Amino acid sequence: MVTRRVDLRSDTVTKPTEAMRAAMASADVDDDVLGHDPTAARLEKEMAKIMGKEAALFVPSGTMANLICVLTHCQIRGSEVILGDYSHIHIYENGGISTLGGVHPRTVKNNEDGTMDIQLIEEAIRDPSFEICYPTTRLICLENSHAHSGGRCLTTEYTDQVGELAKKYGLKLHIDGARIFNASVALGVPVHRLVQAADTVTACLSKGLGAPAGTIIAGPRDFIYKAKILRKTLGGGMRQVGVICAAALVALEENVAKLETDHKKAKTLAEGVNNIKGLNVDLASVETNIVYFDIQESLGITEGKLLKNLEAHGIFAMSEGPLKIRLVIHHQISETDVQYTVSCIQKIVGGLVGENGGN
Ligand SMILES: Cc1ncc(COP(=O)(O)O)c(C=O)c1O
Repeated sequence: MVTRRVDLRSDTVTKPTEAMRAAMASADVDDDVLGHDPTAARLEKEMAKIMGKEAALFVPSGTMANLICVLTHCQIRGSEVILGDYSHIHIYENGGISTLGGVHPRTVKNNEDGTMDIQLIEEAIRDPSFEICYPTTRLICLENSHAHSGGRCLTTEYTDQVGELAKKYGLKLHIDGARIFNASVALGVPVHRLVQAADTVTACLSKGLGAPAGTIIAGPRDFIYKAKILRKTLGGGMRQVGVICAAALVALEENVAKLETDHKKAKTLAEGVNNIKGLNVDLASVETNIVYFDIQESLGITEGKLLKNLEAHGIFAMSEGPLKIRLVIHHQISETDVQYTVSCIQKIVGGLVGENGGN
C-alpha cells in the first residue's frame, strides 16, 4: 500500500503549519463585526501596506472578495464590467456578479498569456451617447497571475496601460490578485507597484501563501467602508475572526519567501513531464506554480485513467478538460515529491501504452 501523498490538485490544499496552529491558539481576538478584533486589524493594516492601498478588509474567500469589489464598483443598475472570457470571475464564480448584483459581464478574449488586447478592451467600452440601449461600462477586471493560462503573470507595463485606459474613460480597475504574490515574485516587482494602477485588488491568503482561509481586499478607505457593509450583507462578517487572521499573518511571514522555490519546482516538474514521450507542456507558460500538460491522443490514454493510476501511487491532480491535467505546486511539495511524481507519471504512461499495444 502506498502511504506517500503528493497533493498537486491546487495550492488551496495546504495544511496549516505548526507555527500557524500555535498562532491561532494564542490569537488575541474580539468581535470583528463590531470592528474590534485586534488580530484582524493587524492583518488588514499589514496587507494594505504591502498592497500600497489606503485600507484593507479580510473576507472569507476569493469569490466573495471579487463579488464585493465588482458590486461595490457597480452600484448603479445597468452597470457593465469588462473582463476576460477565461477569467475566474467569469467562469468559476457562479455568475455571482449577475445573479446577486445585476452586473452585466462584457467579455474580451483572454490571450494565452492571460492578457486581453488593449484595443479590444477599448472597443468593448460602451458609448455613453447611446445609453438609451447600452448598459454603462463602469469597471475593467484583470487577473494576475492568470489561473486559466497556467498562472502566467501580467506585467507592470501592461497593468499600467490598462489603468491609463480606465482613467481615460472614467472607469475603475479591479485586479483579481488571488495569486498576486506569485506574480510579484516571478516578475521581481513589489506587489504595491504591480497593482499601483488598480483602484482595488484582492489577494488570497489560502493559495500560494498557505493560510487555511481568507482573502484580502485592498483599496481606498471609502471603498473599504462600503465593502465592509456588503461583506455583512453577504454573510461574510465573522466574529472572532482573529483566529484565522493569526494564521494568515504567519503565512505572510513564513511563505512569501518560499514562492520562488515553488516556481523553480514547477519548472522542474514541467520539464520532467515534457520529457515523457507523448506528454506535452508549454514550458514558456510555466511562470509561477501551475503546470498544465496535454496527453497526445495517439497514446490512447484518457486524463481520467491517468489520474486514477496516479492516485494509486498517492499522487493527486486535477483534470483540466479532455486530455489535459493540471498540477499545482505549493510550499508543502518537496523536491523529492516532484521527482517522485515525474517518475510515477513516466512509469504509468509507459505501462498504459504497453497495455494498449503501443498505439
Ligand atoms: C484567480 C482566482 N480568483 C479567485 C479565486 C476564488 O477563490 P476562493 O476559492 O477563495 O473563492 C480563485 C480560486 O481558485 C482563483 O484561482
